[in-house]
Amino acid sequence: MTTSTSIAVLVGSLRSDSVNRKLAEVLRDQAPDGVDIQIIDGLGEVPFYNQDVDNATDIPAAAARLREQVGGADRVLAVTPEYNGRMPAVLSNAIDWLSRPYGAGALVGKPFGVIGATPTPYGGKWAHADAVRSAGIAGAQVVEDVTVSQSALEVDVLTDPEVLARLANAVRLLVDHDTETVAA
Ligand SMILES: Cc1cc2nc3c(=O)[nH]c(=O)nc-3n(C[C@H](O)[C@H](O)[C@H](O)COP(=O)(O)O)c2cc1C
Repeated sequence: MTTSTSIAVLVGSLRSDSVNRKLAEVLRDQAPDGVDIQIIDGLGEVPFYNQDVDNATDIPAAAARLREQVGGADRVLAVTPEYNGRMPAVLSNAIDWLSRPYGAGALVGKPFGVIGATPTPYGGKWAHADAVRSAGIAGAQVVEDVTVSQSALEVDVLTDPEVLARLANAVRLLVDHDTETVAA
């Protein structure tokens, strides 16, 4: 029997020419056999998290879709730049929606990793630390080893073989993460 692992990808940039979006697309297109990477579209249509809206009978369709898609995946990968020393609001908002219902959100128990690139020497490391802290509080199983904060200052991150190998390795670490060991 062939087993397959699905990864839901949350991209932290809405920019049409986003480097991080393109990185996510490269990883999706080069995913190893048995790994299905799905980039979650429509994060820009998810309204700001509001408990009043969440408690209503029908939550906004974009938020419902986000919960369903992430809830149905085996793993979650954030691919994100950094805005002002933290994760962009679009990713933060997605994590807020995914953190509820409290204790039963779509991230609960789900292996979560983060990667990304920015044109600074630090590669977005504060955003990445921010994302893993927040996802962990939301109940995800953070896989710290996955984290890659890639500087895009002196390298074309979309074509450099070493960078792409590092990012592919991050995907492999997320896929290979043993949920049973952590849960025990
Ligand atoms: C509002 C704003 C704040 C930013 N703050 C940071 C920052 O704190 N650290 C950083 O490394 N880059 C920062 N940047 C630069 C982004 O990392 C850069 O624009 C990056 O290419 C955005 O990713 P994208 O190409 O996926 O859209 C900022 C960009 C914007 C627009």
